[in-house]
Amino acid sequence: MSAIFERISIRKYEKKSVSDEMIKKIIEAGCAAPSAGNQQPWQFYVVKNNEILEKLSHVHQWAGPVAEADFAIVPCYKNEGLWAQEFAHVDMAACTENMLLEITELGLGAVWIGIAPDEARTKLVNDILSLPKDLSSFAIIPVGYPAESHAQESRYDEARIHFI
Ligand SMILES: Cc1cc2nc3c(=O)[nH]c(=O)nc-3n(C[C@H](O)[C@H](O)[C@H](O)COP(=O)(O)O)c2cc1C
Repeated sequence: MSAIFERISIRKYEKKSVSDEMIKKIIEAGCAAPSAGNQQPWQFYVVKNNEILEKLSHVHQWAGPVAEADFAIVPCYKNEGLWAQEFAHVDMAACTENMLLEITELGLGAVWIGIAPDEARTKLVNDILSLPKDLSSFAIIPVGYPAESHAQESRYDEARIHFI
């Protein structure tokens, strides 16, 4: 799959709108992720409102790209009542990576802005989005047409592989 080897973090975006059809494809890719016991803990908040994007861009010092994006997806998860609650973050990481790969496949750019498991960041984002109590934010994914590019560097390192 070429998107795996083409995906890079994109933090600068063109001032051009992404279609709702593309947004749906990105979220469909997120929903195709594996999850513990197939519990699919996810919900997706799609933020197009510039004031909210601006607020999200200040939740920590590395969240700046959110203010520049056409929109952001905030993948959220059920924080209670799951069959395997302790695996929720792992499920959400798989879901987030799937979306980043689809974003690459569509010729768009994005970056994973880390929120969970940091509790202070999580609360800030939950409050900005007025999430219900049983939902928590996992990450912020600002998305847009890329205004920067470079080739992905190979990180393959034989010294890290151990055959037994
Ligand atoms: C859990 C996680 C949290 C991250 N948080 C941020 C962030 O807050 N801000 C940011 O600009 N990049 C963030 N990144 C992106 C990484 O900096 C980036 O993936 C890494 O430098 C490798 O570069 P690449 O994505 O271009 O391969 C995060 C990535 C992960 C997986």
